[in-house]
Amino acid sequence: MSPNVITTPVRAMLVLGTRPEAIKLAPVARAMAASPLFEPIVVTTGQHREMLHQMLELLQIEARTELDVMRDRQELSTLTARLVDGLGEVVRAEHPDVVVVQGDTTTALTGALAAFYEHIPVAHVEAGLRTGVADNPFPEELNRRLIGRMARWHFAPTPRAAEHLTGEGVPAAEVFVTGNTVIDNLLWVLGEGGGRNHFESGLRRVLVTLHRRENQGDKMRAMGRTLWRLADRGDVEIVLPLHKSPAVREALLPELTGHPNIRVVEPLGYLDFSATLAGCDLVMTDSGGIQEEAPSLGKPALVLRSTTERPEAVEAGAAKLVGTEPEAILAAAVQLLDDRELYERMATAGNPFGDGHATDRIVAQIAEDFGADADAAAADDALAVPQSNGPGSYSTA
Ligand code: UD1
Ligand code: UDP
Repeated sequence: MSPNVITTPVRAMLVLGTRPEAIKLAPVARAMAASPLFEPIVVTTGQHREMLHQMLELLQIEARTELDVMRDRQELSTLTARLVDGLGEVVRAEHPDVVVVQGDTTTALTGALAAFYEHIPVAHVEAGLRTGVADNPFPEELNRRLIGRMARWHFAPTPRAAEHLTGEGVPAAEVFVTGNTVIDNLLWVLGEGGGRNHFESGLRRVLVTLHRRENQGDKMRAMGRTLWRLADRGDVEIVLPLHKSPAVREALLPELTGHPNIRVVEPLGYLDFSATLAGCDLVMTDSGGIQEEAPSLGKPALVLRSTTERPEAVEAGAAKLVGTEPEAILAAAVQLLDDRELYERMATAGNPFGDGHATDRIVAQIAEDFGADADAAAADDALAVPQSNGPGSYSTA
């Protein structure tokens, strides 16, 4: 078969390795598995171990290949090397028609790179997010910029993300505003039901997650002490599902253990996490995905970071970028708990990250660009690969 001709179904390799990638690619995997136009091939890199396995049932299909790259306290350089090596082999062995990566992790970067080296076109889900600061978040801002240089399809969650890409020289015809698949998955999971809300008291319920590399160390310890002071109000219950990262545990556990109103729990499965999010009053987080989910459920979010690549929620009034200084964090939380009007404004600001149909748009676009349609699938006709798939037509702006 000539390299420029394929037959249906389109063989789409979904590469994922961390918790958020599994969550955000799950609806794509489910949709492709349900379509006669696609053969989804899930490759898990194992960049995360327990936290990834917790999420895999969301995909509803078995992983074809599992790499097992995670190491305790892994360094970015060695993780990257293991991933390029392992994924290169998998891409060569499977030779898919398209490789789909999501977001800005080391898995996503190396998945795109391994595909690029084998002249396989890359689809980037959640493309175009930018803080504008090359090393914040570290290393994700650089990762997503680099993936943007390699991808053939850029699925931007918002118009602003799309503008970032076209502003960087990506051809507009390769950029599609779809919404974020995290919303599709959240709505699907809540519709399925069955999750447990982990708040236990009748107090004000504050859900906290922290994990970012740039927050680890002294900053995170200080955040832990700030949460303790917040819990000292006496009218607040804090639930904190603790990231598996040893650096996060070392920073937070000594600061949070022993307070009667703070419950540090192991990472929650998605059913329980979404039920707990739906059951909280407010969120304090440095997570990316939770900044998107909280406004969908009407939960005000305080973002404990100095930058965000998701300013849409802040501009809509659903989230507030409070920075990493203890006094600013405490003041923002206290204000939100005490000012009913402010709380209501934030809780009703709405969700700027999509309508729950991002996946449909992504899957339909890839199918269309491969010339795949239901009739063709039935006839198992040969399909033309999009002309821009060759390495010469990758965006190099
Ligand atoms: C990575 C992503 C980040 C994402 C986060 C999601 C990169 C560069 N960063 O963070 O964008 O927000 O995942 O959570 O890819 N660990 C376990 N078990 C697990 C997962 C992690 O023990 O299931 C421990 C390991 O010791 C590992 C450490 O946590 O070395 C950190 O994991 P890593 O994937 O390197 O996290 P980040 O790079 O901080
Ligand atoms: N999440 C979860 N269980 C938890 C904490 C988070 O299922 O205990 C989900 C959350 O709903 C969101 C995703 O994990 O969709 C966010 O992952 P994380 O914060 O690790 O990564 P980021 O989004 O910052 O890349």
